[in-house]
Amino acid sequence: MEISNNIFYKCASKKVPELDGQKIFKILAKVEMEHASVWKKILKLNKVEIPKYDKCAAKYKPNLEESHSREDRAIKFYGQAAAEAENPRVKEIFEAFVEVETDHLHLSEARLK
Ligand SMILES: [Fe+2]
Ligand SMILES: [Fe+2]
Repeated sequence: MEISNNIFYKCASKKVPELDGQKIFKILAKVEMEHASVWKKILKLNKVEIPKYDKCAAKYKPNLEESHSREDRAIKFYGQAAAEAENPRVKEIFEAFVEVETDHLHLSEARLK
């Protein structure tokens, strides 16, 4: 999920004409890659393939809408994981992710008004 979000944001940051969009999508791409790295470390994964992706929209609004649904999915996923986690430290990590992804959701919400 984090890799998928990273490549979507990278794509969107390159395609949208608005500077504001280029900036926020670039920052979001970076944060999602950091999230992927955290899981890579925790799960002791070897090399993770980053697929090429260019299917994002060329305009700002549809990318904001996609961002919104991706962040909504991330919040639900981590929220569910936090609820199910038995280890308190693991629960804490999932809850921290819910918070960050909620901040991301607000970025698109503020711009879709
Ligand atoms: Fe994330
Ligand atoms: Fe996010």
